Amino acid sequence: MQNIMVTGGAGFIGSNFVRYMLNRYPDYRILVYDKLTYAGNLDNLLDVQDNARYAFVRGDICDAATVDEALREHAIDTIVNFAAATHVDRSLMEPDEFLKTDVTGTYVLLEAARTHGIERYHQISTDEVYGQILEGRSSEDYKLHTRSPYSASKAAGDLMCIAYFTSFGVPVTITRGSNNVGPYQYPEKVVPLFATNAIDDKPLPIYGDGRQMRDYQYVLDHCEGIDVVLHRGELGEVYNVGTGTEMHNIDMAHLILDTLGKPRSLIQPVQDRPGHDRRYALDVRKLEALGWESRFSCADAIERTALWYAENQGWWRKIKSGQRYQEYYRQQYQGREVVAKG
Ligand code: NAD
Ligand code: DAU
Repeated sequence: MQNIMVTGGAGFIGSNFVRYMLNRYPDYRILVYDKLTYAGNLDNLLDVQDNARYAFVRGDICDAATVDEALREHAIDTIVNFAAATHVDRSLMEPDEFLKTDVTGTYVLLEAARTHGIERYHQISTDEVYGQILEGRSSEDYKLHTRSPYSASKAAGDLMCIAYFTSFGVPVTITRGSNNVGPYQYPEKVVPLFATNAIDDKPLPIYGDGRQMRDYQYVLDHCEGIDVVLHRGELGEVYNVGTGTEMHNIDMAHLILDTLGKPRSLIQPVQDRPGHDRRYALDVRKLEALGWESRFSCADAIERTALWYAENQGWWRKIKSGQRYQEYYRQQYQGREVVAKG
């Protein structure tokens, strides 16, 4: 493994992964291949842009010709696919983009991996493919029971990966991560949204009763898990990556407010997300058996993230002050407040 194409590398987890890999492996070269959608941001990669082992190509993973050219020109031997439409709420507004990128885009990359004889294709997937887990935990052989257009598209991508492994011998591995938090997460996802709203003394719109549970994982733990699977994972296998514990959303909101020294009265209940999954809960023992362990608890991860947003206001203010973000925010949240009766 020498020349890795990281698709979606200008997004949140991808950019953290690029930085991690450049530091960890002094002989690896990284090509970021990214369409730069609203979520892709070259500011996330400013500190690596002058690294001689880093290169960037702007392209869509659905565009086979551009993918083909990038693989050839950069003599790529490994593909790590982070590129996706990723926000559940947006998948309820415009499912089309999710099908295109998360399903067709995955297919295009797998086909390119097959024709180029790529040594490893790694797919970044999500715990959402198991659907809501009301009791117990989902291990990797748990049924796929998707409930949103986002999770259905990601599950279809996973199944296509397994199909290419089984039918054509493409050397595929898959990781299914829980909710990541950390630097450079677009402030539509709940933790950066709540942290940045809190800093500005704006309401924190909590969906429904706030008793849903998520496994909030620090992004560096996820990057290390992917690294372990890339180097020690078995071909054709799926590995869960998470802390293996969960936190209620309301507790996450309290923790953010407490960390930033803001009042809990900023919490504003709003109408619930349709089809809102109540709980995700991963069994992570398969990855632990490869020697990986989660180093940050959900609480550590949330605190560190809230502080990063307090210390890096330039990064997110540029996004939040833009018209595109403000239009999204209005469309998503305006008039959604739940007014207490009586
Ligand atoms: P993100 O939304 O921050 O970034 C997605 C990136 O993909 C952006 O840079 C965007 O420009 C790029 N992209 C989108 N469509 C593209 C296309 N058609 N062609 C090329 N590039 C395209 O996403 P993220 O939160 O960093 O998630 C990365 C991956 O991890 C996704 O596959 C997601 O499903 C998965 N995942 C995310 C989480 C999480 O909590 N954020 C958890 C588990 C798994
Ligand atoms: O579980 C992994 C998944 O985590 C990833 O695959 C997705 O790409 C990522 O977006 C994330 O999905 P969620 O839907 O869990 O994340 P989100 O940050 O949108 O919401 C987390 C929880 O917070 C969820 O229960 C919904 C709730 N929420 C979210 C928003 C945006 C609120 O209460 N208020 C909000 O404004």
